[in-house]
Parts: sequence; structure tokens; C-alpha cells
Amino acid sequence: MKKHHITTTLEVYESISELEGPIQALMHKAQVARDKAYAPYSRFKVGAALLLDNDEVVTGNNQENAAFPSGLCAERVAVFYAGAEHPGRSIKALALTVHSETKNITTPVPPCGACRQSLAEYEVRQEAPIEIYFMGATGKVVKAASVEALLPLVFDSSFL
Ligand code: THU
Repeated sequence: MKKHHITTTLEVYESISELEGPIQALMHKAQVARDKAYAPYSRFKVGAALLLDNDEVVTGNNQENAAFPSGLCAERVAVFYAGAEHPGRSIKALALTVHSETKNITTPVPPCGACRQSLAEYEVRQEAPIEIYFMGATGKVVKAASVEALLPLVFDSSFL
């Protein structure tokens, strides 16, 4: 038996203002998208902004449904829209932010597992990492250098 250790290195920024200009602007777009989320059931709004390789930005937010599982997370709304509208483009970065009506979230909130899997499909296909920046409503911002950093041992098309 051999043990394999998987390590991930994350960068932690004290606030949005410590980020580089284009990423700061991307996070601001995620905030604008977040505030337009449709989240009447969870009262937890999420905004996602994707920076494409031509510097266009695509945003998304969570869209809930009275039949709960029929809703969709912000990240998948954004990445599926990018895939639908800009199929040849690769994605350079994703910025994520949240706002809860029930508590003040200052801890960085990472993408859920299902969104990591969906994002991984695009990262594998474009053969280039997607940087992920995530935060709460305020406070620190965490950067992961790739989807793979947040989802090691990914299941992808190479197994099919
Ligand atoms: N949500 C997202 O939009 N992204 C995530 O990564 C985690 C959860 C949404 C789904 C639902 O509308 C609400 O947040 C509460 O789970």
C-alpha cells in the first residue's frame, strides 16, 4: 500500500481592493449579478462573473424554483450561458460572491460540488485553467488557481 497526498494551495486576499484591477472589476460584476438573483426560498443570493479570453464578461445568478431541485446555481447559469453563447471561447477566471438575507456572511463561500463538476468540464475541454475567486458578502477573497485545485480526482470524459 502506498499513500498519496493531495495538496491545494489557495491565495487569500484581505479584501477586493487587494485584487488586480481586472479581477476587482470582475468581482464587482459578480456583485451586480448577485443582487439580481431570484432566490425567494433560500434568501441566499449568489452572483458569478466569468472573464472570457476576449475579455468579455458573462454573468449569472441563482435561479430558484418552487419545486426546489428545478432551480440552478449561479455558477452553472453563467457557465452554461457562456457555453451556449460563446462556444469557441475559453474562460480565464470566475468571480463569485453571495449575500444572505438571514446572516452576514464574511467567510469566503466556494462553489458547490455540482458546480465544480460542471466547471471542470469546461476547464478540461479548453485545456487551460480557470482561476476561481470567491468571497462572502464582504471580507476576504480566496483564489484557487484552477477548478482542478478545488476538485482533485475529477471525473471527466477520459473515463468514457
Ligand atoms: N447556490 C449557488 O448559486 N451556488 C453555489 O455554489 C451554492 C448554492 C445557490 C443555490 C440555491 O439557490 C441557494 O444558493 C442556496 O443553496
